[in-house]
Amino acid sequence: MHHNPTPESNRVLVLGGDGFCGWPSVLHLSAAGYDVAIVDNLARRQIDVELECESLTPIRPLGQRLDTWARLSGRVIPHHRFDLARHYQRLVDLLLEWRPATVVHFAEQRSAPYSMKSAYEKRYTMENNLGATNNLLTALVETGLDAHVVHLGTMGVYGYGSAGMKIPEGYLKVAVETESGEHAENEILYPTHPGSIYHLTKSQDQLSFYFFNKNDGVRVTDLHQGIVWGTQTVETARDERLINRFDYDGDFGTVLNRFLMQAAINHPLSVHGTGGQTRAFIHIQDMVRCIELAVATPPAHGDRVRICNQMTETHRVRDLAQLISVETGVEIAYLDNPRVEAVENNLHAANDFLLSLGLEPITLSGGLRREVTEIADTYAHRCDKSKIMTQSLWRQHPIRGTRQHTTEPAKHKNKPRTPPTNSALRI
Ligand SMILES: NC(=O)c1ccc[n+]([C@@H]2O[C@H](COP(=O)([O-])OP(=O)(O)OC[C@H]3O[C@@H](n4cnc5c(N)ncnc54)[C@H](O)[C@@H]3O)[C@@H](O)[C@H]2O)c1
Repeated sequence: MHHNPTPESNRVLVLGGDGFCGWPSVLHLSAAGYDVAIVDNLARRQIDVELECESLTPIRPLGQRLDTWARLSGRVIPHHRFDLARHYQRLVDLLLEWRPATVVHFAEQRSAPYSMKSAYEKRYTMENNLGATNNLLTALVETGLDAHVVHLGTMGVYGYGSAGMKIPEGYLKVAVETESGEHAENEILYPTHPGSIYHLTKSQDQLSFYFFNKNDGVRVTDLHQGIVWGTQTVETARDERLINRFDYDGDFGTVLNRFLMQAAINHPLSVHGTGGQTRAFIHIQDMVRCIELAVATPPAHGDRVRICNQMTETHRVRDLAQLISVETGVEIAYLDNPRVEAVENNLHAANDFLLSLGLEPITLSGGLRREVTEIADTYAHRCDKSKIMTQSLWRQHPIRGTRQHTTEPAKHKNKPRTPPTNSALRI
């Protein structure tokens, strides 16, 4: 057991600081005057090698990124390369030596399709994500370092059914009928409905936070983030060597960025199923501002885990496709859905906490055009069209004894289908 080290109030350790969300957050925090250090084992870059696919934008090696930032800003950001899920002692030593006041935890395998590819990716995602979170929480307890953990979770833990109510920020008020017939009121963690192995890891992370907060007083903010769209922030746009990654492939590309890139190369916009899935979104510039707000306002000692829905708007996938189709003239292709999920869902979620801290969101209608012209058009020549389609199937085999099978047989995979009729669109 170590003696309680005192955190240095200005220091933020960013786990996963080379990634799509981590890199712009690192620069934003550094520009805001924080002392930042990165832990990243470059696993995401290794997955690029494995999938034989690259970011649409030409991302530089992390060392070049950091040199460029040091030259531009005069601020040096150290990088520690080790695997958080496996090199526990490295993490303990770093926490004791550097004593950050905040640890922002982005370091997880974050693609749902990748997590469903095969047994290898399923096991990797579970071991990596749960291992990293568990090591972080255990190391904070072992070292006694009183650091605030800011974790990136996902709106997906609520499930993508229709809740029939506004989804609260993490906790659900319930009234339980007791034996005497009275109603006892309580507040519980909102029941999770993971829709993939990736989402399962985020659901299990939640329980770990709950336990370490209750048992050891670890202060945690869990940001249930929507799908991040956009590429650049004020800081990453300062020099092309700082450019952020833009994934467009079937595994890591998020829906809106995929549409933008498809529009740029005149490829039909790939909508899975009817496109009736409603999802939550946030622009990357707002995402980094939310991270800063969370870092600047840690929960008090003794507070329960603070859960915030980090999203600014919700849209149906087919509405997004139509918006971009109208904007660019590119047609829409309705494809079989590889996922096991509700065909149509509504999503209505609270995001009061971040708005109360002063976030003024960038909306899709305001920022879309710029994203198409500045990123997708500029780098369209780097696109490998063979990587656009999603290859992962949620279910390899139909479930025995049930009639529930929403996954099409592999031979029909990604075959264009007739668009839904108008009556389906009216749902
Ligand atoms: N991108 C989105 O739209 C989105 C939406 C909701 C939530 N999130 C969450 O935000 C976080 C970051 O997402 P992202 O899009 O930046 O992903 P990303 O894959 O681009 O970045 C994750 C980074 O963490 C690193 N990493 C992974 N495992 C590690 C380990 N064991 N040790 C050290 N480093 C490790 C990777 O190398 C990578 O640089 C994830 O937890 C994700 O679930 C992202």
